[in-house]
Amino acid sequence: MSSPLIIIAIDGGAASGKSSTSRLLAERFNLLHVDTGSFYRHLTSELLQRAVPHTEVAAVQTTVSRLQLSTRLNGRSAQMLVDGHAAGDEIRGQNVNEHVSHYAAIPAVRAALLAYQRGQVDVAKQHGFRGLVMEGRDIGSVIFPQADFRFFLHADPIERAKRRAAEGRQDSVAERDRLDSSRKAAPLVVPAGAIDIDSTFLTLEQVVEKLAGLIAPKLK
Ligand code: DC
Repeated sequence: MSSPLIIIAIDGGAASGKSSTSRLLAERFNLLHVDTGSFYRHLTSELLQRAVPHTEVAAVQTTVSRLQLSTRLNGRSAQMLVDGHAAGDEIRGQNVNEHVSHYAAIPAVRAALLAYQRGQVDVAKQHGFRGLVMEGRDIGSVIFPQADFRFFLHADPIERAKRRAAEGRQDSVAERDRLDSSRKAAPLVVPAGAIDIDSTFLTLEQVVEKLAGLIAPKLK
């Protein structure tokens, strides 16, 4: 009998180290890496290209309900295709950074991604992964509240802004956090019972070792 898939949820604010940590854990434990922020970014880019403003909630709802979402693998990461197309580098650019939290606050946008995100378990199974590590804002609270592990990564906002600047990226980390934490639909919260890690004074390797030390016994 094959062992059940392990589900690891990692939530945290912008530039909290979720992506690098998730990627390294995926490599170490043969997991599918799912960056749900990239899904919100991709939908944002589609809506911006179609000139559907976030203030026109009904138009946003109609537009997203017509989009076909599918998945292809990019290494160990799940890449979302919208009507068969992958997103380009623009989803990490300033325009998407400035708009993504506004679109992500719209319940219809979150609803469009809910089943798709849960469906990544099947993608992991189909491709022979041992499980999945999914990162975002509401993974431990809404998408997989029963995950085997639910981590929340904290880091001082000044440190996070420095990390983005070191990557050469312009990102309003504090403003996105404010919007993501204050929205009504699935706000950024530390899920009850989640393991809270403050990475302000830790290196990426130290964070990964900490999480891996907790996960490894479960995979024996
Ligand atoms: O992880 P990221 O910074 O690339 O995410 C971009 C935005 O997407 C983030 O500011 C809010 C939204 N998001 C969300 O609302 N829920 C998630 N699970 C993941 C991202």
